[in-house]
Amino acid sequence: MPIIAFYSKGTSLEVQNIWEKRLKFYLPSINLVPLLSEEAKLAKIALLWKAPLDNLNQLNKIKGLISLGQGVDHILNQNSIPENIPVVRIVDPYMARSMSHWVLLSVLNIIRETYDYFNQENKKIYKPRREKDFLSVKIGVYGIGAIGSVVAKDLSYMGFDVQGWSRTKKNIKTIKCFHGDKGFNELVNNSDIHVCLLPLTSSTINIFNKDTFAKMKKGSCFINAGRGEHVVEDDLLRSCKSRHVSNAVLDVYRIEPLPKNHCFWQQDNIRLWPHVAAETNPETAAKQIANAIKCIDNNIVPPNTVNRAIGY
Ligand code: NAP
Ligand code: GLV
Repeated sequence: MPIIAFYSKGTSLEVQNIWEKRLKFYLPSINLVPLLSEEAKLAKIALLWKAPLDNLNQLNKIKGLISLGQGVDHILNQNSIPENIPVVRIVDPYMARSMSHWVLLSVLNIIRETYDYFNQENKKIYKPRREKDFLSVKIGVYGIGAIGSVVAKDLSYMGFDVQGWSRTKKNIKTIKCFHGDKGFNELVNNSDIHVCLLPLTSSTINIFNKDTFAKMKKGSCFINAGRGEHVVEDDLLRSCKSRHVSNAVLDVYRIEPLPKNHCFWQQDNIRLWPHVAAETNPETAAKQIANAIKCIDNNIVPPNTVNRAIGY
């Protein structure tokens, strides 16, 4: 069984050991070694999260790269990975549900005014606030793929009016589906809560900018768990300061970890999470990664190989 080079930014050796243990259940002879070690030069496959790939050409036996997350921008952005090397991503229903929990939590915190009630509690104020009619809240989900489609369906099941946006035409029961530029404008103009679950590509970078925020209804809410680079951060800040965007909930940033001196920390109507909306779970993801390893080792194109032409 091949040697697997492993790199997961910001984690300890313990995380590598957890993955090795889980993968050994399916591939008993597997051997994970740190990407930046001498042994990694023999690796045929690399398992990566935000790895420094500049010295990928030192790994001259490499046959495939596997993302430790559902997004692959951290691999495709860094380096010109040869076209003949498949880049594979995780597609795990566990992660989609986990994201759905986080988005629902964010939506409910806004609609039920959780933060205002917490403030009242701190001041011992026992006073009902006027409840929003949830039937009148339209939620736009940008990106209705493996994750966004589950989120959109779950929100619809909870009684919200949901519309989704994708690149290609979709037909999902209970969701109004839009696509292309016209569809984007439809969501931007008519949603009360905007949820970004897009992959980061050359077509989606900076998609939420001053023009987009200006077109949103006054008092709109913006939730981002896609990537930080989807948002022009100064434009979001300005829209939040003026209260044109009444609330933002963010899980991802252009620079991660979010620097201590970043202006978002000071802004009362921007809520910040440290990129945890849907974390990869080795328990549920190991089986498909083991399969991808087997496929690459046997020169078979694995499921969930990224389409390099469209970048996701
Ligand atoms: P996916 O299955 O590839 O779905 C992507 C969706 O975005 C699809 O509906 C796709 O349209 C749409 N899309 C892509 N480019 C578009 C464009 N130019 N115009 C309109 N729609 C476009 O991806 P996924 O697995 O759902 O993951 C989405 C992203 O979530 C990841 O790339 C990652 O950035 C982020 N994520 C974040 C976390 C977190 O914890 N914060 C966790 C996991 C993932 P089509 O359906 O037409 O292809
Ligand atoms: C997390 O951000 C992922 O892409 O899985």
